[in-house]
Amino acid sequence: MAKEKIGVVGAGLMGHGISYLFAAAGHDVGVFELSAELRATLAQRLRAIADLLGDDPACLDRVSAHDQLAPAVQNAGFVVEAAPEKLALKQKIFADLEANVATDTILASNSSAIPSTEIGRHLKHRERVVGAHFWNPPHLVPLVEVIQTETTSGPVIARTMELLRGAGMKPVHVRKDIPGFIGNRLQHALKREAIALVADGVCDAETVDDVVKNGFGARMAVLGPLEQSDLVGLDLTLDIHEVLIQHLDRTPGPHPFLRDKVAQGRLGMKTGEGFRRWTPQQADEVRERLRRFLAGMAKQRKSSGRTGEP
Ligand SMILES: NC(=O)c1ccc[n+]([C@@H]2O[C@H](COP(=O)([O-])OP(=O)(O)OC[C@H]3O[C@@H](n4cnc5c(N)ncnc54)[C@H](O)[C@@H]3O)[C@@H](O)[C@H]2O)c1
Repeated sequence: MAKEKIGVVGAGLMGHGISYLFAAAGHDVGVFELSAELRATLAQRLRAIADLLGDDPACLDRVSAHDQLAPAVQNAGFVVEAAPEKLALKQKIFADLEANVATDTILASNSSAIPSTEIGRHLKHRERVVGAHFWNPPHLVPLVEVIQTETTSGPVIARTMELLRGAGMKPVHVRKDIPGFIGNRLQHALKREAIALVADGVCDAETVDDVVKNGFGARMAVLGPLEQSDLVGLDLTLDIHEVLIQHLDRTPGPHPFLRDKVAQGRLGMKTGEGFRRWTPQQADEVRERLRRFLAGMAKQRKSSGRTGEP
């Protein structure tokens, strides 16, 4: 059966990875990108992903880059918008999309924080607007949060999930269009407590990272937090919560410790210091270690035909 044509708006960090994974799954992909430089380097960036994953680069012939929206999304059954995180810009792109695609083409936004409900608010056919929150880098991290807006229809959710599954991704259905969806809410709940522990002098930042990486983080790819609660028993989880929950950080808004770091220009690896100190070489080593680890997991998933779990 012929695969649906996919449209991608934006060939930046996320857009090029999203283009790759659909092309690798056998779809024709039309990419709209305003920057001539990014259009010119797209093929080379896609080739680098194929090399990293050991894939046949022939799949990249299915990707075409365009400086206009219409040819990129012509005949597309599914379009992913991965343009900058600005509401007015995304609304304009969605209005342009509606004028250039069929009424049943699914329009998905990869927005991290802007509700897709708002992005699609002024469209005529709002039942086909959906959030599709990929994680960085999308060609290595399998999760996609498929977010149901106030108006998204059930069949649109089902088609989106099926398409993503067919591209080797692990889609999950988020039933409400809430800030942070699921993944970022969990991630930042953990960061809030991590920052408070360091701010309160309980330990330094390196110790927090060691505790996560060598402790509960080491098992998390296999055992999610609720699975783990079921494993040890909810009675034990309740006993722990009775004692602990009252002591967890409740600072309203971002922690002053974080605000101070940013005010002091301590922004992390890019300035040589954030919560921890970094030489350029140490920062490169961390990036390379992460890239190799994620690529190894992606290859393992591909060879075993599984999605989402190691
Ligand atoms: N970077 C991440 O880790 C990450 C993760 C998940 C989701 N997101 C979301 O994905 C989206 C894109 O983020 P990114 O990191 O790829 O940004 P990016 O800046 O790397 O890419 C955005 C691209 O859009 C292009 N662009 C600008 N205006 C455009 C227009 N009018 N039409 C078409 N293209 C246009 C830019 O030239 C650029 O190449 C954002 O909404 C972001 O919040 C990012």
